[in-house]
Amino acid sequence: MELQVGVLISFIMYLQLFFRPIRMIADRYNTLQLGVVSSSRIFKLLDSQEHIADEGSFAPAKIRGEIQLRKVWFAYNEEEWVLKNIDFKVASGQTVALVGATGAGKSSIINLISRFYEINKGEILLDGRTIQDYSLGNLRKHIGVVLQDVFLFSDTIYYNITLGNPDISREQVLAAAELVGARKFIERLPGGLDYNVMERGATLSVGQRQLISFVRAMVYNPAVIILDEATSSVDTETEELIQSAIEKMMQGRTSIVIAHRLSTIQKADRILVLHQGELKESGTHEELLQQQGYYANLHQMQLKSVAI
Ligand SMILES: Nc1ncnc2c1ncn2[C@@H]1O[C@H](COP(=O)(O)OP(=O)(O)O)[C@@H](O)[C@H]1O
Ligand SMILES: [Mg+2]
Repeated sequence: MELQVGVLISFIMYLQLFFRPIRMIADRYNTLQLGVVSSSRIFKLLDSQEHIADEGSFAPAKIRGEIQLRKVWFAYNEEEWVLKNIDFKVASGQTVALVGATGAGKSSIINLISRFYEINKGEILLDGRTIQDYSLGNLRKHIGVVLQDVFLFSDTIYYNITLGNPDISREQVLAAAELVGARKFIERLPGGLDYNVMERGATLSVGQRQLISFVRAMVYNPAVIILDEATSSVDTETEELIQSAIEKMMQGRTSIVIAHRLSTIQKADRILVLHQGELKESGTHEELLQQQGYYANLHQMQLKSVAI
């Protein structure tokens, strides 16, 4: 039997017509699977129990801001100790810098002080009283936290600073912005405080986003400031602005800083060196350099990589 060209071509075309819907179904199936996985994660999150019990009722209007960790042990997962027997005290108004390699446990200490996680053993005291006595709202009002990654909502600058708390006036926001040196750039934006940052702040520079997170922390005028210094590089001018903002924030406040900038570390009253969840050394920059231990080592490495 002979095959005519026309039949062959229509055969090929019919084949394509036949397979296309099948391929489309397969594609849809992939999308569906992605959706199933995502929604299972979302439901898990929605179902997760708030593991921090807000049972404290102590809510002082003002605190001195003295922080003490007493024999603190902590694990995210059963018995895999991330922090082991951490013991230190920060007097009111003092600045302490936490240093240590990645994974040493610096961020974990910060998470514990602001009670994002609960410790397993030991005690964390604020003005001599365990932080569990304080109401969570009160505790977090007194402790201003600035994390490395700034999360901005697609909303106004004002909303991003107050996070929807109607008790914070525009004057308060502007005063805090003034303090960290962010007022100028905010007022230059179209609409000022009402400027919509869109797409999680895509229209702002890295430095501007950081400044906004500083204002966010300062708006309650906290007695304690906890800072996870960002490592992202910014231009020299912004760097100076941020550096001076950090100094102003720390002034007159108890400060615990995860420092990457050598200048911040050197200015600290005390440096705490963490290594694999243990507090290895403590002292000033000069004292620790003389000890020729972990800190001196870290210092050497960082000078070499110029990452500091
Ligand atoms: N949410 C978490 N769940 C489980 N383990 C974690 C979590 N966060 C940090 N860790 C682990 O805890 C240890 C200390 O981490 P971290 O406190 O972030 O250190 P650092 O800030 O000094 O880099 C690391 O081994 C890290 O893998
Ligand atoms: Mg960290």
